[in-house]
Amino acid sequence: MPYVLPPYPYDRLNTFKDLAVELHGSAINMSIGAPHDAPPQAVIDALATSGLERGYPPSVGRPEFLQAAADWLQSQCDVAIPTSQIGATVGLKEFVAGLPHWLKLKDPSKDTVLYPAVSYPSYEMGADLAGCRAVPVPVDEHWRIRLDAIDPADADRALLLWVNSPGNPAGGMDDLGAAANWGRAHGVPVVSDECYIEFTWNGPGQTILQHETDGVLAVHSLSKRSNLAGVRAGYYAGDAELVHWLREIRKHVGAMVPGPTQHAAAVALADQEHVTTQKALYRQRMEAMITFLGKLGLEATMPEGSFYLWVRTPDGDGWHWAEKLAREVGLIVSPGDFYGAVSNNYIRVAVVQDEEAIAELNRRLATATA
Ligand SMILES: Cc1ncc(COP(=O)(O)O)c(C=O)c1O
Repeated sequence: MPYVLPPYPYDRLNTFKDLAVELHGSAINMSIGAPHDAPPQAVIDALATSGLERGYPPSVGRPEFLQAAADWLQSQCDVAIPTSQIGATVGLKEFVAGLPHWLKLKDPSKDTVLYPAVSYPSYEMGADLAGCRAVPVPVDEHWRIRLDAIDPADADRALLLWVNSPGNPAGGMDDLGAAANWGRAHGVPVVSDECYIEFTWNGPGQTILQHETDGVLAVHSLSKRSNLAGVRAGYYAGDAELVHWLREIRKHVGAMVPGPTQHAAAVALADQEHVTTQKALYRQRMEAMITFLGKLGLEATMPEGSFYLWVRTPDGDGWHWAEKLAREVGLIVSPGDFYGAVSNNYIRVAVVQDEEAIAELNRRLATATA
């Protein structure tokens, strides 16, 4: 039987975008977590001047990029990871979607991917694409993964457990030490997606690498921290044997981060100042959006991390609210069921637009209610 691809989630919002343009002249897109602000000029300059266009880049990552990742892990998270235990990714999404397939080749006796029931859709998609069982793990009222709720029969069959902290869409923070211990106790690799690690609102971000590297991987991205979603750079780090397997298989796949990108990403990783500035901007904008959504009867609160507002809808219908916001103010948000079947009563607002966009939303609302 041929595999039937589901519709791409964000394509399903195109009618709402058309509606926003028709009624308001433009759509203000807060559906996808794509950064809006510019990366540092030094990073753009590094992209243009690396001289690395001609040759093939090493798939595992150029030494300068891997060293920059190791230095960042050391300086920001106080963990010493040798560069031999780090590999480059072409942004995280390809890695997330490809990982179950590669792990299944490593251990064909396993066929299950465990992932949080409220989460980034590519965890489930990667399992589907590898012909694996995708088994959602319940989350608690703070959006933390419930390790105690994993069925032992599923654990026996698991290729990996995904955790994501701070999480997309709800911004929850998992106990990564507990996740690492659960994985080691059950012989299941735990892969911790930490692409929002820089954006935490109640204390510093955490990495699973702070709990030993055996049996775990952390995955990081430049997309969100440095506004570099357009250049595609990330990395994975952790368990020596797992990293070795992935580095080797990815050479065969041809997964290569372009040389100029690796050079620029190394420059970006060496700079924390732009991240601090960006973090302050996100906080202000999230607070402004909380106020704005309140005027529409939507109760949003600051999450523990990430730049998303995960908002319960008054009538329990995320799709209805996604259409209503497009119609009333031209705002495009994601209905909650993009992030798991249990979440249809939510919407996710990615606060990636700037002050001017938020001011425009307020103007549109004032006009509508005048
Ligand atoms: C939880 C999570 N993981 C991974 C990604 C992929 O990021 P990128 O492919 O840009 O590195 C995203 C993007 O939104 C995300 O939210």
